[in-house]
Amino acid sequence: MMIYKFYQQRIFPHLLNQVMQTPSMMDGRAELLGKVRGEVLEIGFGTGLNLPFYQEVDQVYALEPNRDVYQLAQKRVFDAPFHVQHIQASAEKLPFADHSVENIVSTWTMCSIANLDKAIQEIHRVLKPQGTLHLIEHVQYHDNNTLKKLQDLLTPIQKVIADGCHLNRNIELELLNANFKFSEKYYFDAEDLPKIGRRMFMARAHKL
Ligand SMILES: C[S@@+](CC[C@H](N)C(=O)[O-])C[C@H]1O[C@@H](n2cnc3c(N)ncnc32)[C@H](O)[C@@H]1O
Repeated sequence: MMIYKFYQQRIFPHLLNQVMQTPSMMDGRAELLGKVRGEVLEIGFGTGLNLPFYQEVDQVYALEPNRDVYQLAQKRVFDAPFHVQHIQASAEKLPFADHSVENIVSTWTMCSIANLDKAIQEIHRVLKPQGTLHLIEHVQYHDNNTLKKLQDLLTPIQKVIADGCHLNRNIELELLNANFKFSEKYYFDAEDLPKIGRRMFMARAHKL
């Protein structure tokens, strides 16, 4: 147990910081974030890897429950040409008023949220009526049954080594079921990642 705690606090945050800088992921960030304007709430801010890709934002609320992970964001936060405010909270209970946030960003966070239904409800609650949820997530295959099954099989192990990360979520369906519609969406495979976590879903979603 002590070894696992050491892994969680001292090793995992550095691994996360490295893996999340895979070139295809950095390209995905550029594509998703370049045109985002104004105020942004990032859920699962991680180590701040999105910050250099914002061209036109005024303020970022950096929601990150894990202190050990946020520690590694400090330099990027300091270098950002706009204000970044850390909010130590979970997406299942967003400390924001109803219909108050213009943009919400989730990059590879929905895989890790323990109660995703609740978090999506919360995102729906705090998003302004004309607001946008910008997201890129790794998801379950829908066109390859072998890999799909393998994702189901390996998720319990992945959850232990990668801080609760599920390999087998269908984020598009979760959002549709929670009264979101899409103005943009597509799937692609990130060739520089292992097959098991390669299928990506990029989208801009709005409240119905
Ligand atoms: C795979 S990392 C992605 C980090 C960052 N978004 C990025 O693109 O590099 C997932 C992040 O979600 C955070 N997280 C886990 N559970 C969460 C929850 N319930 N609410 C908000 N963030 C959560 C983790 O602490 C971690 O920083």
